[in-house]
Amino acid sequence: MGLEIEQIASVELSDIAVSETHGEDSPYFAGWKAYDEDPYDELTNPSGVIQMGLAENQVSFDLLEEYLEQHPEASTWGKGAPGFRENALFQDYHGIKSFRKAMASFMEQIRGGRAKFDPDRIVLTAGATAANELLTFILANRGDALLVPTPYYPGFDRDLRWRTGVKIVPIHCHSSNNFQITPQALEAAYKEAEAMNTKVRGVLITNPSNPLGATIQRSVLEEILNFVTRKNIHLVSDEIYSGSVFSSSEFISVAEILQERQYKNAERVHIVYSLSKDLGLPGFRVGTIYSYNDKVVTTARRMSSFTLISSQTQHLLATMLSDKKFTENYIKTNRERLKKRYQMIIEGLRSAGIECLKGNAGLFCWMNLSPLLVKSTREGELELWNAIVHEVKLNISPGSSCHCSEPGWFRVCYANMSERTLDVALERIRNFMGQMQRTN
Ligand SMILES: Cc1ncc(COP(=O)(O)O)c(C=O)c1O
Repeated sequence: MGLEIEQIASVELSDIAVSETHGEDSPYFAGWKAYDEDPYDELTNPSGVIQMGLAENQVSFDLLEEYLEQHPEASTWGKGAPGFRENALFQDYHGIKSFRKAMASFMEQIRGGRAKFDPDRIVLTAGATAANELLTFILANRGDALLVPTPYYPGFDRDLRWRTGVKIVPIHCHSSNNFQITPQALEAAYKEAEAMNTKVRGVLITNPSNPLGATIQRSVLEEILNFVTRKNIHLVSDEIYSGSVFSSSEFISVAEILQERQYKNAERVHIVYSLSKDLGLPGFRVGTIYSYNDKVVTTARRMSSFTLISSQTQHLLATMLSDKKFTENYIKTNRERLKKRYQMIIEGLRSAGIECLKGNAGLFCWMNLSPLLVKSTREGELELWNAIVHEVKLNISPGSSCHCSEPGWFRVCYANMSERTLDVALERIRNFMGQMQRTN
């Protein structure tokens, strides 16, 4: 902090402020710090740390920039654009209608038109972070639990737990079946919560998964839906990477299954989405809750007052996403580029002797370095991670920060950099693997 003020007073803060459930003391965030202190730059700092711990999509920025250049009316105050006053004055917290319509239609488009979304069920939030927290506030009381399959996005430790006081009980998944969720694992997690006298309020899945970079199979989704119905609990499906599946047909949204089931038992299902990944706009803070439960929609709208999206952003994106020619080309090209990147990293790692889980989506791969562990424990994994961050100078995320039950797995992001930087990263990994082989 710039202005140093002596902190001697014992003036108290709230329980939430001093609680340890903020989740930020994980190696996931420590790796970001290592990058911030010594960031790689091809010209000015070629031996710096390469950021491979950030699930950011920069591969299709040129398409967005081209659109904005050709459509200045979307982002300027000029003629034909929503005027300054329209943006500046108080907005209805239900969100601008044209934007909710455009979001619903974009969500249909990335699902290949196989699921319908009603704009009146779209609740807008400042990113999926806010959407997930807001839903947790609505579905569970302090002390209750959500069941979450492992490995999971480390941010959930903060988003679902910190301010809500809700617990996460892991559904342990394993490499033996490619980390897919099984009925046995669901039941075991439910029993674990019961043994702790903790009320389970729902299951939260991420489809496609972060950090696995893979979609959930239809039969598994059907089993999860049957499970939550049997237990009379909720299902939250975080589908933030739904447009980043390399081929649209490989992704089944829970929305499609509900549609096929004529929305029977749908009132327990809620979908989270955001434009942070598929459009690469995390700075815009645009997320949504799509709930099939009328009460949840009403409450979420009320609560969204705390986490609104600015009118200017909504107007810009309403114009962009209503342009079907643009969105069709964007979705197709973005998928192709992500797939090419994925193949580039998978082949690069394979040539260095490293295998990854077979992926079909997302901005990262799930890399297996367990053969390199001196000790097959969390400590062993963190020792290897430390060497990779500080010696190889690559910030990747250790599986333990995603609560993976098996040590030795790492998430590696590949869409937040240029192909040249990715080549440098792969070269560093090849050298590191060469060194490891020589010393063993
Ligand atoms: C699964 C998942 N959910 C939510 C988020 C948060 O996204 P947003 O930037 O929209 O808040 C992320 C970001 O990495 C994520 O991977």
